[in-house]
Amino acid sequence: MTEFSFVSHSSVYVGCGCVAKNAGQLKHYGNKAYVITSDFGEYHNWALADMEEALKSQGIAYRVYDRVIENPPVESVREIADDAREFAPDFLIGVGGGSALDTAKGVSVLLPHPGEDPYQIFWKDKTRHTSLYSEGTLPLIMAPTTAGTGSEVTAAAVLTRKDIDTKLTIYQNVFCDLAFFDPRYIQDSPRELLHAGALDALSHAIESYVNVKSSDMTRAMSEIGMKMFAKFKDRLLADELTLEDYQNMLIASYFDGIGFQCGTSLPHGMGYPLSHHKGVYHGLACGIYQAEYLRAFRDQSLVEPIISNCGFKDIDEFAAYIRNFVAMDVEMTLTEEEVRNWAELFMEQEKHRITRHPEPIGLVEITDIFM
Ligand SMILES: [Fe+2]
Repeated sequence: MTEFSFVSHSSVYVGCGCVAKNAGQLKHYGNKAYVITSDFGEYHNWALADMEEALKSQGIAYRVYDRVIENPPVESVREIADDAREFAPDFLIGVGGGSALDTAKGVSVLLPHPGEDPYQIFWKDKTRHTSLYSEGTLPLIMAPTTAGTGSEVTAAAVLTRKDIDTKLTIYQNVFCDLAFFDPRYIQDSPRELLHAGALDALSHAIESYVNVKSSDMTRAMSEIGMKMFAKFKDRLLADELTLEDYQNMLIASYFDGIGFQCGTSLPHGMGYPLSHHKGVYHGLACGIYQAEYLRAFRDQSLVEPIISNCGFKDIDEFAAYIRNFVAMDVEMTLTEEEVRNWAELFMEQEKHRITRHPEPIGLVEITDIFM
């Protein structure tokens, strides 16, 4: 019998207009809200508009910070925390994609530490990772406008460290208390962002399902996510998603997010050089490898339920499906030498991922998957 922990923290309201319909709930969290979101450029930030209306309707004072940076640097999170501290809110609201939501988590951690070095605060004590305690200092509400990262249900916040030129998850666990899943918020997203989000969520489900640290409870969550994916996968590819599909994408991302508390596996590590050096969206960079990753399993009995839960008849059909997104959304040149270097670096730097893989695996197999 195995021993494990399991955490599921965030409550959710799901459906069109759920922010307005449940605006009265905001009052439970206090009288002052600090809202953190990104600049949506040419797109309208419907989620922010709904949230502002809801706050006004409840007489809640609020301040909006709307310049969150993609892959948020630590320095930017500190600047926002300083602004939030001055406003002294009772609760925080994150509106947007993973960057806005993760920034809100980072701000929550930094609030009680004015003037201190944020690098020291975020990455001093690695043991915090193993705790189930949420170190958010204020209640945290979220309205995601992408479906993929699962930030609204995971403990993790990924920030960019300029000192070592990489992205890293902060050591504190911070959970969102209440999330609003309105499918209208994601339906205007650019096509490649929708693809990247869906493949990111799917990658979370697959990689946690086969992970040696998975449990019956996390695998059950991943299975729900895969079955939700099966419902919308064909319309995602055909660019014919319905409002119900968008809602299912948010729900899939939520369950996949709970599932991947046991950690992601090889493809997430293999995706980093594609994102970092070639600018490929994170979800696409991880999604690209999924079929070849599964094909590399000697024991295919672990892989079969994944393929069938995702709605494919066999691994070839799954591989062909994934190749469609590569053809549509990924444009880059890559030499064999680069791939071989990445494989060698992977073996050196991602040892923790290799230990999560249930079979022995070495440079030859990793190079094959990369190729
Ligand atoms: Fe991911």
